[in-house]
Amino acid sequence: MKVSLLIRRLSIPEFTTNAPVLVDVYITAMGYSPTIRDTRIAVWRRNSQNPGFTSVCALLDDQVVGVAYGFYGSPDHWWQHQLRRGLRHKGGPTTAELEIVQNYFEVAEVHVMPGFQGHGIGRKMMFELLREQQRAHAILSTPEVDQESNNAFGLYRSLGFYDLLRSFRFDGDLRDFAVLTVELPLKETKTH
Ligand SMILES: CC(C)(COP(=O)(O)OP(=O)(O)OC[C@H]1O[C@@H](n2cnc3c(N)ncnc32)[C@H](O)[C@@H]1OP(=O)(O)O)[C@@H](O)C(=O)NCCC(=O)NCCS
Repeated sequence: MKVSLLIRRLSIPEFTTNAPVLVDVYITAMGYSPTIRDTRIAVWRRNSQNPGFTSVCALLDDQVVGVAYGFYGSPDHWWQHQLRRGLRHKGGPTTAELEIVQNYFEVAEVHVMPGFQGHGIGRKMMFELLREQQRAHAILSTPEVDQESNNAFGLYRSLGFYDLLRSFRFDGDLRDFAVLTVELPLKETKTH
């Protein structure tokens, strides 16, 4: 790993201008088909208009090797409707869950290019993304994997994220997801 790693926040104009490059990081990291590129660029640009939108990127020299972004959760968002449906289905929301759902920052995306994963870039981006957020909790979802044996679960657990929902199906997606949450600000629970 070179020493010239830079993690920095992007302004909204920087994010929208560079959305194609940032989406390419996402497509490559997730192994998705490039056919979704244009649609995702439009979705990411639209997301940048949400209240509380914050984005960060990881740069090695001039190459973008990581991206993360999120925004304030809102009852107007499809995602929060899904979350509330999931909590109702498991008998909630409890008082604690209700407090979380009313006051959270949604981590919508976090991705690091293959070849640069597992070196702490995701961790640094998460700290920068969640630094000084005016929300008491962060929430994200990640596809379920056997034994939680991937970098995503490793990273989220090491940051203190715990379960809100498991094996949850978002409408229109056949995969099982874990929905995880953590109190903000993040605590330095693990260092490398
Ligand atoms: C998930 C993802 C964003 C995490 O970013 P990352 O840079 O790989 O993550 P980090 O290196 O910060 O942390 C991941 C793991 O590496 C460990 N790690 C962090 N710094 C380390 C270091 N210097 N040396 C060794 N291991 C380190 C973390 O503790 C964690 O380890 P664990 O899984 O053994 O607990 C990235 O791997 C990725 O893009 N994956 C593919 C796309 C994806 O799954 N995105 C998320 C969808 S929800």
